Amino acid sequence: MPGFTSFRYNPLPDMDWKLIPEPELSAALEADIQRMLVAAFPNYVDFFNANSYWGSKPEYRLIAMQAGQPVAHLEFGFRRITVEDSAFEIAGIGAVAIHPKHQGRKLGKTMFSHLRDHLQQHTHVDFGFIGCHDEVAGFYAASGFTRVQQSVYSLNPDSQAWETFHGPTLIMPIHSSLEQWNSHGVIHLHGMPW
Ligand SMILES: CC(C)(COP(=O)(O)OP(=O)(O)OC[C@H]1O[C@@H](n2cnc3c(N)ncnc32)[C@H](O)[C@@H]1OP(=O)(O)O)[C@@H](O)C(=O)NCCC(=O)NCCS
Repeated sequence: MPGFTSFRYNPLPDMDWKLIPEPELSAALEADIQRMLVAAFPNYVDFFNANSYWGSKPEYRLIAMQAGQPVAHLEFGFRRITVEDSAFEIAGIGAVAIHPKHQGRKLGKTMFSHLRDHLQQHTHVDFGFIGCHDEVAGFYAASGFTRVQQSVYSLNPDSQAWETFHGPTLIMPIHSSLEQWNSHGVIHLHGMPW
């Protein structure tokens, strides 16, 4: 992938958007992200007290800061995946969260608009990719993703076993169109999910 540099967006008042390569993430900011994730995921308090992501190690973080604290967060990384005999370059996305005080104000949708712009301008990926729970699939559909009706084969970071995921899976066109996606067959991530 071509070189990245940190940059700023200012789409909402007082929001300072940053794209941070993982090696440049400070321990202090990672701890602040964990506190935000704890607030956003009340069912995973113990997990996010100990971790700032699940599964594949992030390569970049996209964060909105307000008053010195992260209020929006996602992480992503790049991979070549396959669907039967088709191969696609994807940006796998995870740890998507908006601080509860800021939810419902289009901040999540804005975050994906920035991610899409970035991926279009600075990468060659075909699609953004995310797996999620049923409860939030509608949010991703409203934010530029299309649900695919395929299972996903990947390495479960909890069980350390290769497993097939049957939950909601969505893709966001970047440099390829939905028509170019192979909608038949299992999606093989060749590693852990995000
Ligand atoms: C899910 C989450 C990221 C959404 O962020 P948000 O800033 O509150 O959402 P937005 O205000 O940008 O909503 C954008 C659109 O998605 C819709 N939407 C938001 N949450 C939704 C949900 N749970 N189900 C269906 N649609 C949803 C909104 O109605 C809006 O639709 P519209 O543009 O057609 O009017 C946020 O609520 C959150 O952090 N939740 C807790 C953590 C979590 O579940 N993360 C996802 C893990 S996969």
